[in-house]
Amino acid sequence: MSAFPKGFLWGGAVAAHQFEGGWDSDGKGVSIADVMTAGDHQTSRRITDGVKPGENYPNHEAIDFYHRYKGDVELFSELGLNCFRTSIAWSRIFPNGDEDQPNEKGLKFYDDLFDDLLAHHIEPVITLSHFEMPYHLVQAYGGWRNRKLIDFFVRFAKVVFDRYKDKVKYWMTFNEINNQVGMLNEWSLFTNSGLVIQPGEDKEKVMFQAAHYEAVASALAVQVGHKINPDFQIGCMVAMGPVYPATPNPNDVFKAERLMQMNYYLADVQVKGRYPRFLENYFDRRKFDLDITLEDRDVLLAGKVDYIGFSYYASHVIKAQADEPKDFITLGNNQEVKNETLQRSDWGWEIDPVGLRYALNWFSDRYDVPLFIVENGLGAFDKVERDGSIHDNYRIDYLRQHIEQMRLAVEVDGVNLMGYTPWGIIDLVSAGTGQMDKRYGVIYVDKDDQGKGSLARSKKDSFDWFRKVIQSNGEDLA
Ligand code: BG6
Repeated sequence: MSAFPKGFLWGGAVAAHQFEGGWDSDGKGVSIADVMTAGDHQTSRRITDGVKPGENYPNHEAIDFYHRYKGDVELFSELGLNCFRTSIAWSRIFPNGDEDQPNEKGLKFYDDLFDDLLAHHIEPVITLSHFEMPYHLVQAYGGWRNRKLIDFFVRFAKVVFDRYKDKVKYWMTFNEINNQVGMLNEWSLFTNSGLVIQPGEDKEKVMFQAAHYEAVASALAVQVGHKINPDFQIGCMVAMGPVYPATPNPNDVFKAERLMQMNYYLADVQVKGRYPRFLENYFDRRKFDLDITLEDRDVLLAGKVDYIGFSYYASHVIKAQADEPKDFITLGNNQEVKNETLQRSDWGWEIDPVGLRYALNWFSDRYDVPLFIVENGLGAFDKVERDGSIHDNYRIDYLRQHIEQMRLAVEVDGVNLMGYTPWGIIDLVSAGTGQMDKRYGVIYVDKDDQGKGSLARSKKDSFDWFRKVIQSNGEDLA
């Protein structure tokens, strides 16, 4: 008997902008992902002021799923996936974001894709906004710093909920909405909220305001969605990285706890429908005077999500400073120290399977709603052998160890877990670095960091391994 319930969702996860390509096909508008250049190990991605000639924008073609989805869905079916997490590119549906009428060709693409998935018994799991919004909303409105974005997002949500109400049951509103809180850097503010911080602006305040409007938009979308189809399961999506204290020193312990409170405040807002007290106090102390109305507070309470979708890649360790002010608040990830007990990925991400069990328990205790692991995986360099095979045992080890911990959380700890969709089931463009060579997939795509390659797909060793895992409902991890 499997530890995982019958109907457990085994899938793979991707995001529209990282794999679709077809960035200007069939009336699609420019999205914020279309103005981000490729970076590498050493170089950050740059955000350009519009699409500039001569720049390398890896998301424009990505892996060209837009034109090749039929073959890819065949592969997903052979792999045995019973669900597939992707996102809808907002700018395919509303190219500029502020139109009254949607783009029919964009809607049609997702109709065809969802039909094809369903014909292969693969349930679509859909994120409304995954690090992606029409670029026009940044230029004309300043992104989510503007309350008007709430209406544009809710219109978009309503259109797609209506259109796909009989094809999609599982939804999420904003991908890793809390990334901007945990990182508070140029990249996260832009990808989460389309924010470009102006000289002299307090980026904390701008971020808190934008995140509030997103939370209100999410809550309104939940209400609209449930009206359209009461069977919809609409979740939030947060990035989970447990924070451990560097030592038993109570200052370190408290700082780690404060960082957890801070990193998950948006889960409080979306799951409990209210802000945590420590943060309300902080807003007052800082005299932010945020635009949070009484009506907004009612909306948040009335639009609580049905489940928590979350990503899990790594854990973090924090140390208090000797002169830490008593009223500190922890934003950004610049006070981290290395965890010497753990191995790191090629990109320096700490590999911590037990942290996944910790995360599942932490969410389960704090929120008591169903949980869904919608991202997990190892970004690694892969080597293609002369015969075309790819022996990615390191990826199998990573996934096995995490599934083992996930199983303990379900079997021993009684966590209510809906499913598991490892990230980048097919190789795609990295969100953080814009690279192709940071690979997560069990399906290899022949394309490199310079954009060269045939785009041909092939199976890595992890493909057969994961197929057995799914077939045995998580029992056969050998
Ligand atoms: C999550 C995102 O942050 O991590 C994905 O939701 C992203 O979009 C994934 O791709 C892995 O990060 P990266 O930077 O390795 O692509």
